[in-house]
Amino acid sequence: MKYVWLDVDPGHDDATAIMLALNLPNIKLLGISTTHGNASSEFTALNAARCAFAFGGNPSDVRVYPGADRPLILEAKHDPEIHGVDGLGGVEGLPSIDDQRVLDFFDLDVDGQRIRALEAMPKIIKETWKGGSGNKVTVVSSGPMTNIALFVSVYPDLLEAVEEFLFMGGGVGLGNRSAVAEFNILCDPHATQIVLNAPVKTTMIPINVTHTAIVTRKLHYRLLAGKEPGVGPEDAELELPVASTNLRHTLSTLISFFAASYKSTFGFNNGPPLHDALTIAYLSNPELFNLTRYRVDVELAGCHTTGETVVDIWDYKQSDSTWGRTGKNCQVADSLNVQGFFDLLLEAVERCDQV
Ligand code: BDR
Ligand code: CA
Repeated sequence: MKYVWLDVDPGHDDATAIMLALNLPNIKLLGISTTHGNASSEFTALNAARCAFAFGGNPSDVRVYPGADRPLILEAKHDPEIHGVDGLGGVEGLPSIDDQRVLDFFDLDVDGQRIRALEAMPKIIKETWKGGSGNKVTVVSSGPMTNIALFVSVYPDLLEAVEEFLFMGGGVGLGNRSAVAEFNILCDPHATQIVLNAPVKTTMIPINVTHTAIVTRKLHYRLLAGKEPGVGPEDAELELPVASTNLRHTLSTLISFFAASYKSTFGFNNGPPLHDALTIAYLSNPELFNLTRYRVDVELAGCHTTGETVVDIWDYKQSDSTWGRTGKNCQVADSLNVQGFFDLLLEAVERCDQV
């Protein structure tokens, strides 16, 4: 069993990460914190709670804790072009933001204020670790890493309770929000560097790999119908069926919106990449991935390259193998078993459908 803390900025693909984390049998989701990123922190917190409700979460098991609403140093930037102004534009089937069942996912303090990420995360990690007699926690990030960097900086004594920092972000010589910078890292490059410097195992799922996890029309068909399409027209002409359940309809509208954004912004014609879902898939089924350990740093002051993850694939620094400030500090995913990933995702949808 993997004990997981999930930090997100939902976000269409973050939503799929939440769905997976709530519906894979070997993942125990302890809590969800939210960050600025795809939308403002106000929206991302509410979106996480809407997703937790829609994907079978129960507030007695897992709550949502709002976190940082700006990066450590830079100004916050959001991505309405990709996710809509509210971060989950166009998704049908989620409850509205003021629905009591959504608000129940927030923990309140004695003054009725929402308990924040930086309070809940150390508390729950500590309770799970139990000074070494309990379980270590994997901290997963699918947005800018501000909350995680603050946790590392404020609670260094709790790093021994962390199994691994696992994040979706960065690229190996590749960017999506500049020539070389990926969105999550670009939003808070300083936070990422702090996490990479921590003396904890760190895993990065870069866009080189997430761009292989494309929801093609055939996969979209499988999601809607719960089965493979028969022999018929090629992908682009395949007619999509009506969703067989409400959950599948919701996931389908989420993917359709994301597909349209990826087509108009990046020219992806075959479907959208499910970036963030790969983090939870890796935790549940690491054999689906190949990884290599490198020295990774973030460009913090480049003229053209701020936010680039500088991956030392040539071992130019001749680094040793410690995690942290020196040496090979990060294992980076090189490739994915795409079929295996989508089988896993669709299994989780099936499980969620039965809740
Ligand atoms: C990342 O940025 C956001 O658009 C997605 O949610 C994902 O986390 C991909 O670059
Ligand atoms: Ca995200």
